[in-house]
This record gives sequence, structure tokens and C-alpha cells, in this order.
Amino acid sequence: MEDMKNALIRANRVGLELLDLERRLTISRADAFVVHGDTTCLMHCIGVALVAMAILDGLRLRYDRRSLIRGALLHDFYLYDWHTHKRAQGERMHAFTHGAAALRNAEAEVDLTPVERDVILRHMFPVTLTPPRTREGLAVTLADKLCALYETFSGAPYKKTAALYRRCLNRGGSDYGRSDGDYSHQG
Ligand SMILES: [Fe+2]
Ligand SMILES: [Fe+2]
Repeated sequence: MEDMKNALIRANRVGLELLDLERRLTISRADAFVVHGDTTCLMHCIGVALVAMAILDGLRLRYDRRSLIRGALLHDFYLYDWHTHKRAQGERMHAFTHGAAALRNAEAEVDLTPVERDVILRHMFPVTLTPPRTREGLAVTLADKLCALYETFSGAPYKKTAALYRRCLNRGGSDYGRSDGDYSHQG
């Protein structure tokens, strides 16, 4: 029962930050690009936020929940299709550069906390050699890999969850606070 309550709290907090980032920088633009399998960058980022929080909550560690969520939601805000993206001359592969691209896009429109910057910029560790310096960054880095595996090998990841969050974005949040919503990150 406690687990379910915590999952609902986490999902609701993600929804609230999602709506705020929609107002500030139209984060739904990231729903136009597929990242793994059939999963869009936006749905992947939502999954990563939920899993990263579940990891830290499960370990009963203290953390900056708001920065973790916002960093996770923006960690892949690079806004292009990496499958077809043409690199500029001398530009390194997507895996090495997209954290910095996401950070640039986000910072162009919102002020970020140091934790949010760490989460976004360092999430590709160990592909990129510099590890995150915060526990929020470490949790997102781990959750990113777990979600990528799930999205690549699962038939229809986040189906109900994606529908719910998209409805919420379309309606400007009127679904939030309802008791019949399925806010869990699975299914
Ligand atoms: Fe990424
Ligand atoms: Fe990611």
C-alpha cells in the first residue's frame, strides 16, 4: 500500500514538472523523436524520471526530488532524430554529444540548478568518461540504461502511462489529481 502511494506521488510530481516545462519550453517537442524501439524521447525521459526516483526512494536516500525530475525530463532534450541526424564536420557521435546538446537547448529557455545540469550533462556515463557528481545524476544514469533496455526489448512499453501523460499535456493538466488514473511507470 505504501509502495502504491509512493508511486502515485512520484507520478504526480512528474506530471506537475512536465506541465511546468511545457509552459516554459514546450517539452512536448521531444515527443516527435523516437529514441529506442517505438519509444519517443519524451516518454523515455518520463520513464527515466520515475525509475530514478524509485531507485533512490527504495534505498531511502535523501535527494532533491524536483531537480532529479526536471533533469531527467530534460536529459534527452536534444530535439533531433539521432537515427538520421547528419553530424557536422568534426562532430563526435550522438552518444558523446547529445547530453551537451540537451543542456544547451534547455538552458536557452530555463534556468537550471547545478543538480539539473549534472543530471543532463553526465547521463551518458560510462560511454562518456566523466561520471555524475550527484546522487540524482547517478540515479538517472542508471535508470537511463534500465529504461533503454526495457524500451528496446519490450513490445509496447509505457502504453497506458504514455496515453495518460499525453492527455494531460493536451488538456493542460486537467487529469492530474484524479483518483482513477494509472500513474505507474509500467504498462
Ligand atoms: Fe541520452
Ligand atoms: Fe536517455
